[in-house]
Amino acid sequence: MAQEKKNAGKRAAEFVEDQMTVGLGTGSTVFYLVEALAKRVKNETLNITAVATSSRTAELAQKLGITVKSLDEVDHLDLTIDGADEIDANFQGIKGGGGAQTLEKIVACASSKNIWIVDEFKMVYKLGNFGLPLEVIPFGSKELFARLKREGLKPAWRLDENKEHVLTHNHNYLIDLRLGLIEHPHLLANWLDHQVGIVEHGLFLDVVDTVVVGKSEKTEVIPAIRR
Ligand code: 5RP
Repeated sequence: MAQEKKNAGKRAAEFVEDQMTVGLGTGSTVFYLVEALAKRVKNETLNITAVATSSRTAELAQKLGITVKSLDEVDHLDLTIDGADEIDANFQGIKGGGGAQTLEKIVACASSKNIWIVDEFKMVYKLGNFGLPLEVIPFGSKELFARLKREGLKPAWRLDENKEHVLTHNHNYLIDLRLGLIEHPHLLANWLDHQVGIVEHGLFLDVVDTVVVGKSEKTEVIPAIRR
């Protein structure tokens, strides 16, 4: 799987052009993207500015010589490249396996173009096998958890090895919905959008423009055409 992710990251780095302001996602596939992009910046003396969706990505990019600014310091984003956890046949996605979906969605929505980089195993017919991540405010989160349970959404707290809550960048909790199958992603997203206490969910609908799928031998670049 690492090779497939590496191939996707490397290929996607080729979409970055001189003078661009680029959003950088979070995760292991993005790690390979940042490595490849940093090589291009150095070898081709590219003048780019990056906006990172996590401190992990920001630290890596800076260490490798890429200029990083915050989203509020730039006036536009030409392109954002990020990983994903599942992409369905209609190019809708689940993100947030790394718990960074709130910053990732803010950056994606601010970007003129979005590319996702995945290995081939993340391409699915329908979403839902991967747990759907929710970032939730700690205050009242037990009540929210009970509400999700009553709705049959099979919530599970995201806990670390000491059974403590995994905290997001914003010091919030994470809940994963073990849905198995999401028949109507837009209806679910709309319902989740209206639940008080949920900061952001991991359904990224109608966001991606191009998907770069890493395979063991090659990569495939697929335009996201939705039915
Ligand atoms: C983090 C994300 C990641 O992009 C997603 O989890 C994919 O990660 P990886 O490239 O490590 O498989 O959404 O919140």
